[in-house]
Amino acid sequence: MNLLIVGSGGREHAFVDILRRDAPEAKLFAAPGNPGMIGAAELVPIPADDIDGLLSFAQEERIDLTVVGPEAPLANGIVNRFNAFGLPIFGPSRAGARLEASKAFAKQLMNDCGVPTAGHETFEDANQALDYISSHAEPLVVKASGLAAGKGAVVCETRAEARTAVTEMMVNSQFGTAGDKVVIEEFMEGLELSVFFIADGENAVPLLTSRDYKRVAEGDVGLNTGGMGAYAPAEPSNSTFVERVRAEIAQPVLDAMSEAGTPYHGFLYAGLMLTESGPRVIEFNCRFGDPETQVVLPLTRSSLLEPMLAVAHGESLAGWHAEADTRTALTTVMASAGYPEKSDPGRTIKLPELDPTKVQVFHAGTALRNKQLVTGGGRVLAVTGFGENLEVAARRSQYAASQITFQGAHFRRDIGWHELEPERLRVKDQQLLTGF
Ligand code: AMP
Ligand code: GLY
Repeated sequence: MNLLIVGSGGREHAFVDILRRDAPEAKLFAAPGNPGMIGAAELVPIPADDIDGLLSFAQEERIDLTVVGPEAPLANGIVNRFNAFGLPIFGPSRAGARLEASKAFAKQLMNDCGVPTAGHETFEDANQALDYISSHAEPLVVKASGLAAGKGAVVCETRAEARTAVTEMMVNSQFGTAGDKVVIEEFMEGLELSVFFIADGENAVPLLTSRDYKRVAEGDVGLNTGGMGAYAPAEPSNSTFVERVRAEIAQPVLDAMSEAGTPYHGFLYAGLMLTESGPRVIEFNCRFGDPETQVVLPLTRSSLLEPMLAVAHGESLAGWHAEADTRTALTTVMASAGYPEKSDPGRTIKLPELDPTKVQVFHAGTALRNKQLVTGGGRVLAVTGFGENLEVAARRSQYAASQITFQGAHFRRDIGWHELEPERLRVKDQQLLTGF
């Protein structure tokens, strides 16, 4: 069997690992991949957004399944193109990917099918948006509707900040055309949780719950990043709660997409806010999260290849469920100097020997220079620790991260604090962790 993984980050490194486990005999290709995958997969120098290049490669190599990591090729219709040529691929069509690529579309769909989310209005005219802000309660949230590499949501304490955000997006085109349409929404208070599903168009099968840490610095302060760490399972993780999220959030969305003639296949990422009135959706993504994948997949015992192949061939996942490990996983992201504002490539990375039963290192932004491993992108490595509980997983992850060196490396030592240091949480939030 020939498998192709599209993407080059830590998430894709975790996909390669799991597919190697599920199909030891398979030939694995990663486009463009990263040095961490060498040995497990053959790297193919085709960028993730070169849909034509990927299509030709998949035809030539007779790829039996293509798995897409990042959102951009999905939003640009890679699945439609592969399907048109009869090539099996796992992921949503261009229409399905609108759940992530257009916040205006996702919010409308949620309203139409009664999925709980923040109240909102969508604007295509800056003056109307600015007028609306004048009568909106503080705090409030301004979001570019299109894809903005995770930077398109601005939580504003004041109306003045919201006006600035609208002006930046709509008038100064801070995110290009992604900000031509803007969603202004109510601020939701609570704890965040990510729940991933595998969807076959009709059924959504949940994997472990996880929680990621988006701010660059300890104490959840500083700039927003792609994610500085994550852990799984994250509370609430009980089956009653997960079933509620499936039934109240994932299923209505799948039903609505089917009714519209655009059934949703692939990974569905529900970013939730746990509020006093129950879980509400912050956003959907049409792919897996990074770095949540680096904790969720290593704990998934069931084959991931099997359901992905089934979905790519139009088969049903009815009756399938994902078995998980009883351990806990926590990942610490090591970033290069200046991240998230800039990256610092070319710094030599020294990796010590680590016990793979306790720690696994996923490459995110690494490169090879004269056969030496060096930093490539802003987020360089995701160091995942495993343990019988969160504390052990955290200790292993942090210890391993402290043993890895490259100039300018920085990482957070408080990933998982919601459960490791509940005294830092308000009583109300502590109740939300366990109260569903
Ligand atoms: P998004 O890009 O939509 O995931 O938003 C990025 C981050 O902004 C989320 O992870 C939340 O921390 C925050 N956020 C987005 N929307 C809201 C909201 N309506 N209320 C509170 N926080 C929000
Ligand atoms: N970790 C958040 C994301 O992948 O969007």
